[in-house]
Amino acid sequence: LRTEPVTIGGVTLNNHLLLAAGVLGTTGASLSRVLACGAGGVVTKSIGPQPKDGHAGPCIALLDDGILNAMGLPNPSREFTGELSGLGSKPVIVSIFGGDPEEFAEVAGWFKGMAAGLELNLSCPHAEGYGASIGVNPDLVEKCTRAVSTLGMPTWVKLTPNVTDITAIGKAAERGGASAIVAVNTVKAMRISTALRRPVLGNRYGGLSGEAIFPVAVRCVYELYEACSLPIIGCGGISSADNVIEMMMAGACAVEIGSAVQKHDITVFETIKNDLYAKKGIDPAEIIGCAHG
Ligand code: DOR
Repeated sequence: LRTEPVTIGGVTLNNHLLLAAGVLGTTGASLSRVLACGAGGVVTKSIGPQPKDGHAGPCIALLDDGILNAMGLPNPSREFTGELSGLGSKPVIVSIFGGDPEEFAEVAGWFKGMAAGLELNLSCPHAEGYGASIGVNPDLVEKCTRAVSTLGMPTWVKLTPNVTDITAIGKAAERGGASAIVAVNTVKAMRISTALRRPVLGNRYGGLSGEAIFPVAVRCVYELYEACSLPIIGCGGISSADNVIEMMMAGACAVEIGSAVQKHDITVFETIKNDLYAKKGIDPAEIIGCAHG
């Protein structure tokens, strides 16, 4: 099945389905494989200003309807640029994080000319000094976004759902010059082992992804669509063509898929794609935001 390319937030994608950050996005080879398996674009694991080992384990708990993680942003930092050299002009979006606007600008600069765009991770729910401590603060979101957007690369901003008013954060990203909003990162959560009488994760708290958070993600996209004029990329628990259609009706013009790839395998892209474009014969241009009004 051949699909038409779509341009969203300054990035041209092969179709509307992207690999979400954090899943399979750690090497050039795995990113290429996901593209070959039908993803319209891929987002890398988040890269930060210094190499990082991440949190002590256990870092992942597989739940019936989702995944709880506290990886702690492990990444090789600048060395990751080597993974991108073979990817040419493929639709690869590099996820980046930093502790302040200067660090965001520094990391972003490493990838100039090497990636189709950047996704600012302002939203990890459990990384001290990074992520959500920035992403809940509209002023910091605006400053970090501006520090990157002024470098001239497409700048997507991934938001946390762990706020009272996500529209205030979306508007801050818009003021900072973002080219698209990605909604949402994981929901802050925890489980306790009743046998051990201790939290399941080494870090105690983590982020919940997967089917359990799909309704939260739909609500966030719906609210952002009413408040912002940027393109929105829906993310959170999408595992079927019907989920993609629902996200688009809420206002998303593309989607990112993560936990479903982890739970099943990378064939989910081909399966959802065939179902979406062939069986359901969907024309996204007709349904985006149609649940409003
Ligand atoms: O749930 C998450 N886990 N979100 C992030 O942004 C980062 C990741 C991690 O590395 O812990």
